[in-house]
Amino acid sequence: MTTEVRSPFIALSDRGASLTHVEGNNDWDVKNGDVRSYEETFQTLLSKRTFADIINERKKQGKKSLVIDLMGYGKVLEGIECEAGLAVALSDQRSPLDNKKSILITGNVLLFKTWEKINDWLTKQDVPDKKANLILCRPAAGIRGLTDNIDLHFTLLNNMWSLLSRDSGILFTQLPFMSIDSRSRILEWQKEMKIKYPKQDCEIIPLPPELAFLGGVARFTKTPDSPDRLPTLQELQKTA
Ligand SMILES: C[S@@+](CC[C@H](N)C(=O)[O-])C[C@H]1O[C@@H](n2cnc3c(N)ncnc32)[C@H](O)[C@@H]1O
Repeated sequence: MTTEVRSPFIALSDRGASLTHVEGNNDWDVKNGDVRSYEETFQTLLSKRTFADIINERKKQGKKSLVIDLMGYGKVLEGIECEAGLAVALSDQRSPLDNKKSILITGNVLLFKTWEKINDWLTKQDVPDKKANLILCRPAAGIRGLTDNIDLHFTLLNNMWSLLSRDSGILFTQLPFMSIDSRSRILEWQKEMKIKYPKQDCEIIPLPPELAFLGGVARFTKTPDSPDRLPTLQELQKTA
């Protein structure tokens, strides 16, 4: 497998530097969720498996795994035995008692340079394709302050997609269903994806009423047949 030389990330300009994303919203109900709590959020998409099962299946095939906890402090990584784990958050909020086995990069995901830092970490890992095998993105209430711009959320999704291994890398992510518009655009996008890319794993599920304020959750698996970039709704509709 080859390593991409050109930056795979869709340009997020550092205009974002003027955004005021700061840590410390203490009203966050979930802050340092463990693996069980993440599995609960994504349970419908896990179909009775655990994240550890996914990594163990790779282990049985003699494969190493890199796991990323995006928009989190990495506590979830303590419950997944992988070769290397990376957490990405606005700041390091881990307590001295936390197991700091994984690396934590501090950075704003709305900034291009944060994605470059993640990519730098991946390129230093001892795996052939320098890509992640499992990406978890559960900002919980943190998704609400991120941006109202659905196109920007889509760019973030595509940047996560760029980090993912084609060797069945799986992304579990929260999606913004906060407005009726964003919800219907995302579900429309999924419908079009299933028509144009029937083999592409692309499962999107609105969270149950008690968690609806967090939006929806999604699972994507990347394989050699997957597109390099996830097409936008406009692109999918143009090729109709
Ligand atoms: C409510 S906490 C959830 C933490 C963890 N994922 C969990 O579920 O327990 C929100 C997380 O999102 C991160 N976050 C919020 N906005 C961010 C941004 N613009 N860039 C990077 N991380 C961000 C925060 O640093 C924090 O780790």
